[in-house]
Amino acid sequence: MSSPLIVTIDGPAGVGKSTMAKRLARALSIPYLDTGAMFRSLARRLGEDAWTRGEAYLEAGLTGVRFSLSGIGEASVLSLDGVAIGDEIRTEQVGMWASNIATSPAVRAGLKAAQQALGRECSLVAEGRDMGTVVFPEASRKFFLDATADERARRRFLQLQELGKPADLDELREQIAARDHQDRNRAVAPLKPADDAVIIDTTSLSLDEVFQALVRGVRG
Ligand code: DC
Repeated sequence: MSSPLIVTIDGPAGVGKSTMAKRLARALSIPYLDTGAMFRSLARRLGEDAWTRGEAYLEAGLTGVRFSLSGIGEASVLSLDGVAIGDEIRTEQVGMWASNIATSPAVRAGLKAAQQALGRECSLVAEGRDMGTVVFPEASRKFFLDATADERARRRFLQLQELGKPADLDELREQIAARDHQDRNRAVAPLKPADDAVIIDTTSLSLDEVFQALVRGVRG
């Protein structure tokens, strides 16, 4: 049996990784793995101040946690202990909690093992912060999407407006900058492009242009 195809997409908050990963996964007829959703759902389960309670507490919180993945492309469903993870994790507050627990070596080790186990079971488009550098160093194709913090805040703002949710552009810019700082500067598996990643600056590209660049990169 041939080994699973792994394509990684890393990048900072709000750059459009999920949108692109879902679309690319559909084109390749494989599941997409949102590893941010793993950190977010775990952070939500452990509670707001979990990250201040020390490594032993976080390690205990990981015991028995099981992630599973089904479906293809946009229809991929990631579950935590058999329950599909939904929109309850999609707030900037939970994003920050996730970024906080993501500084913990115990949490990173636990989720890395879970991510690698999923990658042994099936082909994946895996998106996150350390997919190409740490979790899937042998991936067939690696991408790093980037955009200025201003542009990412603007995209988030428009997204929230479309959903009819309250949004404050200045606040979003600050939240994104704080999360960027923590994700790029943590000691374990910081956000950075893998040496062999294709880096795409999406600041002035349309969704279709980014997608075409990914398709070219996968075929190339
Ligand atoms: O991609 P996201 O916004 O859903 O991720 C939420 C947080 O989870 C992010 O700020 C840092 C952490 N994260 C991580 O450290 N490593 C990953 N592979 C994915 C997410």
